[in-house]
Amino acid sequence: MSMHDDIKNVLVSEEELKAKVAELGAQISRDYEGKNLVLVSILKGSVVFMADLMRAVSIPCSIDFMVVSSYGGSNTVTSGLVKIIKDLDGDLSGKDVLIVEDILDTGVTLSNLVPMLKMRNPNSVKICTILDKPSRRKADIQPDYEGFQVPDEFVVGYGLDYDEKYRNLPYVGVLKPEVYEK
Ligand code: XMP
Ligand code: MG
Repeated sequence: MSMHDDIKNVLVSEEELKAKVAELGAQISRDYEGKNLVLVSILKGSVVFMADLMRAVSIPCSIDFMVVSSYGGSNTVTSGLVKIIKDLDGDLSGKDVLIVEDILDTGVTLSNLVPMLKMRNPNSVKICTILDKPSRRKADIQPDYEGFQVPDEFVVGYGLDYDEKYRNLPYVGVLKPEVYEK
């Protein structure tokens, strides 16, 4: 059985992702020239984007990882404040932090996380997300770099999961409704 059979439609193809990541990497390389760039990946969703984006960045940079979770919330609903489950390994003082995210949805996660990171005396904190779902935004927050806007549908693939599955799909797609009903 193939996971591709569970996909109703593809929203962003593998080729589109590849081209966009190259574009974002080039732009970030220009914008952060001479700076102290650290790419901060929010696990697990951004792991695929992070792996691709860091190789599209041509200037020296470091990487770090963080695990955060929203309080409450079921699988498909994001709610409440964020809790740091695994903190960064490195010190952010004087660093130019670029948060690497899979999707900016309600914006609740990052609108809570950004001020927490800013308290650590970085030189700057910006956001790079591969997907943006602006129709669902609750918090006043915008990405500084974004890949694709997606409609208000639950999406999977390219790191995004449903019940921890489908992260390894090489494209972004929408699940067939019967998958949720199983
Ligand atoms: P907020 O709402 O805080 O959400 O911007 C951020 C996190 O919620 C998850 N999320 C999704 N995950 N498909 C997913 O697999 C989706 O359509 C989706 N929308 C939100 C995601 O982990 C994101 O980092
Ligand atoms: Mg996530």
